[in-house]
Amino acid sequence: MSGGLENDMTTVTLRVHRFTPRAERERDRARAGSPFARKSSPFGGDSARRRPRGKQWVQEYTIAARPEDTVLDCLLTIKRTVDPTLAFRYSCGHGMCGSDAVAINGAPTLLCTATVADWAKPEASATDEEGFRRTGGVDDADDTDAPSGDVPDGSLGVIELAALPGFPVQRDLIADIDPMLEQIRKLKPYLQADGVLATTDEGKVDVFEYLQHPDQLARYELLSNCIACGVCEGSCPVFAGGEAFIGPAALITASRFINDSRDTQAAERMDAIDTADGIAACQSVRACTRECPRGIDVGEEIWQLIAQVKER
Ligand code: SF4
Ligand code: FES
Repeated sequence: MSGGLENDMTTVTLRVHRFTPRAERERDRARAGSPFARKSSPFGGDSARRRPRGKQWVQEYTIAARPEDTVLDCLLTIKRTVDPTLAFRYSCGHGMCGSDAVAINGAPTLLCTATVADWAKPEASATDEEGFRRTGGVDDADDTDAPSGDVPDGSLGVIELAALPGFPVQRDLIADIDPMLEQIRKLKPYLQADGVLATTDEGKVDVFEYLQHPDQLARYELLSNCIACGVCEGSCPVFAGGEAFIGPAALITASRFINDSRDTQAAERMDAIDTADGIAACQSVRACTRECPRGIDVGEEIWQLIAQVKER
């Protein structure tokens, strides 16, 4: 499909891995409402949610674009002018909400901060100079050894998009990130502190103060910037759905409060992650570090957290 093309404009091709879930069948609905329906099945419940069935295909869209456009800009153009059925998620549009994490050219990242200039690649030809078939997918954005391909005049190249890895796909580029949010919720991602009660001159309750020195703030301030986008989880080869590993985002949340001098539950928080599916499951691959959009060195933070828990 193509849209919005003018003679003197550059173009980009988005190759989108699409997915439409299979419609719920009447029989399944009737069965769900039956008192004789099995309550748990090795093929139902969570496992069914993790492997939704439906139609999968790859669709290409070529649209007018400038190098400085973001991939989100391109998807919005497609949605508004070419194909309203294309599904993706976003909210803030500038790297603050974390709702638009997908795989771009195979690398988990945010749609709204990824530019066409950074991610469009020449289309690699199917065979190399000697006629051998090339293997492997689209190359990483910064791979300078990428096979050079033919780029038609005016084309900025091809960008491949898929839903965030490690999570079930709901539709097209929308992944179900509930497994990550559930893991974070389990770790009580809020301050548990004993505030100092401040009163007015008249003796009325004014405010609870949680006093902290700037050095103490510095110990967790960067970690508090985590936006739960799931990019680190999508990069982690161990997370893969969160069944065997609580995941890097949850561990960053735990570390944020363990290192907060105001929080009184550090010991309990450490107990909660000192488990087989907690820090023990981390293999220190450090793939989680590469793309954090908030600049958190996730692998290093988890490494320090593991040391903290083991040394207590
Ligand atoms: S640590 Fe970074 S990559 Fe991971 S969820 Fe938080 S913001 Fe996203
Ligand atoms: S849309 Fe909010 S982070 Fe990208």
